Amino acid sequence: MALKKVTIVGAGNVGATCAYSIINRRLADVVLIDIVEGMPQGKSLDMMEAATIVGGDCKITGTNNYVDTQDSDIVVIAAGLARKPGMSRDDLLYKNVQIVGGVVEEIVKYSPQAILIVVTNPLDAMVWVAQNKSGFPRERVLGMAGVLDSSRFRAFIAMELGLSVENTHAFVLGGHGDTMVPLPRYSTVAGVPITELMSQEQINRIVDRTRNGGAEIVNLLGTGSAYYAPGESVAEMIEAILLDKKKVLPVAARLEGEYGVDGLFVGVPAVLGIRGMERVFEIELTEQEQEQFERSVAHVRKLVNELES
Ligand code: NAI
Ligand code: 2OP
Repeated sequence: MALKKVTIVGAGNVGATCAYSIINRRLADVVLIDIVEGMPQGKSLDMMEAATIVGGDCKITGTNNYVDTQDSDIVVIAAGLARKPGMSRDDLLYKNVQIVGGVVEEIVKYSPQAILIVVTNPLDAMVWVAQNKSGFPRERVLGMAGVLDSSRFRAFIAMELGLSVENTHAFVLGGHGDTMVPLPRYSTVAGVPITELMSQEQINRIVDRTRNGGAEIVNLLGTGSAYYAPGESVAEMIEAILLDKKKVLPVAARLEGEYGVDGLFVGVPAVLGIRGMERVFEIELTEQEQEQFERSVAHVRKLVNELES
């Protein structure tokens, strides 16, 4: 049986890490495309050689030509500028909107049935641009942020309690920015809410660290932003889709009335399966959580309004 085809636009840190995870998970053939000549070809050849050691027969092709992306089942958009120290994700808005818009035009031409997963920042605005530009239904356009933000929350829970990260589960809602809403009530260790395992002071500290998790890494790296956890997070979403897992993952999904929001992409739990974002998964929020969620939605709305004006 022919393998599925995943194109990754932007063969930089996140794109290449994601490609490597896809072939290690033996999920699909991968096409890695970038505007820089030679670089996607070089990284792809290196990964094909690595695959002889880890095993699996997924092919990976590097290119600068969209013809090679034809008939992709999934297209990841990780092209664009990344943050530098002192920059917020929002500072990337005007540069990256041009890049994402141009990329989507090419994708629609060559893979009109693809599912799009947007990574480029500012995430919630870029995924909105991708849907507007492509005209694809909401099931086939989603953004990656929640899996990453939750992975950070999980790592900090495990570190704080000195327990296996495998026992942790965490939920983060809202936009991918400082207003994101980590939900301690729905975050657990071996099924036990962390509100029963930690003091309020401990919870506040790791919630803050999660909100600033991207900036913490930007400051440590000095140049560029995180890519191992982001690349792995996208691969996790691709696995849920291609294996039709019906897995509930936090993703940026277009809301049409759910959580009281209409026409915006915001981070919420959703069911991922072969059709993409198959259903928004609604959970009860307390008044305080709802208020924080609305503040985060207002921030996303402000960015989208800037693009519309
Ligand atoms: P990077 O700089 O390593 O790679 C970006 C790549 O995009 C470069 O290779 C560049 O040549 C390429 N590119 C630029 N314009 C292009 C175009 N028109 N067509 C094709 N390729 C093009 O950056 P990195 O670290 O891979 O990050 C990529 C984006 O993802 C950034 O906007 C970053 O902020 C965002 N990001 C988002 C995360 C999320 O949670 N949503 C997590 C991590 C990064
Ligand atoms: C992150 O959270 C930069 O959005 C990216 O690491």
